[in-house]
Amino acid sequence: MPFVKATALSCANIAFIKYWGRKDHLLRLPLNSSISMNLDNATTVTTVAFDEALPADEIEIGGEPASPHAARRVSEHLDRIRALAGITARARVASRNSFPMGAGIASSASAFAALTVAACASAGLQLDERALTILARQGSGSACRSIPAGFVEWHTGDTSDESFAESIAPPDHWDLRDLIAIVQTEHKEVGSSKGHEIAGPSPFAAARLAEAERALPVVRVAILARDFTTFGEEAEQEAIRMHAVAMTSRPSVLYWSPETVRIMHAVRQWRAEGLEAYFSIDAGANVHVLCQGKDAPYVEAALHALLDVREVLANRPGPGTQLVEHHLF
Ligand code: DP6
Repeated sequence: MPFVKATALSCANIAFIKYWGRKDHLLRLPLNSSISMNLDNATTVTTVAFDEALPADEIEIGGEPASPHAARRVSEHLDRIRALAGITARARVASRNSFPMGAGIASSASAFAALTVAACASAGLQLDERALTILARQGSGSACRSIPAGFVEWHTGDTSDESFAESIAPPDHWDLRDLIAIVQTEHKEVGSSKGHEIAGPSPFAAARLAEAERALPVVRVAILARDFTTFGEEAEQEAIRMHAVAMTSRPSVLYWSPETVRIMHAVRQWRAEGLEAYFSIDAGANVHVLCQGKDAPYVEAALHALLDVREVLANRPGPGTQLVEHHLF
């Protein structure tokens, strides 16, 4: 059967209840369920074309050949898809991000979600959304949450088939904003894959897990009810808990830079003054500032006024991963 060229567009996502630590590293089964929102302005486009004539996978990211580490991770993911489709052909892959890689905007999430959907389409493999999330999860855990649209829950599950993601509300359900204050665009010191592996020995790991399990239904209900205060307080606490585990892992990982901490203080100061915003932080120094649509212009202006902020990437709830017509090659 001849292969087609296929291209997918995927949004990154920000988790409000986070994935930090796994119960199965090989299958990427997370310790706890998580909840996120797709980010409409932080996207990855990936084109895949399987080709019997290629001697090896050819992988390009951002116009450059992928690093050996990234290329291996992509080829391993293509192997999963080749196994499911019963094919052996190698593939040409090209991928572009709309945002800086490796700086705490989950580039692996949109990257592996787009790769999964484009590669399945190129291989002629027809999977339903749940199966696509299970497949994407094995490439990068958070990628499973970028497949469905809008606000998404990833169920931890005890087996691979049970660990899938599904939408809990569409993008237009709530005009929530994530304004990402970019303070650093260099690659982070310790990638999240490593962070998950060393999270276990933290003396706070068990306490954080219990709190994440308590907070998950609270956050889900707050999203469904558009209760911004409950939502924001829980999301901010969860981010701090995740970083408390990272800081107390062995080795200790400190993702916050002085700029990160200054923005955290600024957000709390604005809140005290009546501008309601909360922060979340992933495995990097950049700060995700969460606010309601009505306050977004004020929060954005306040962020731009801080000397530390190089750029603000403003996001609304984004769609799920989709096939698009515009190929990268
Ligand atoms: C801090 O999904 O990047 O963004 O499964 O090893 O690829 P791997 O990890 P990854 O971890 C994301 C961690 C996080 C929190 C989150 O998105 O839930």
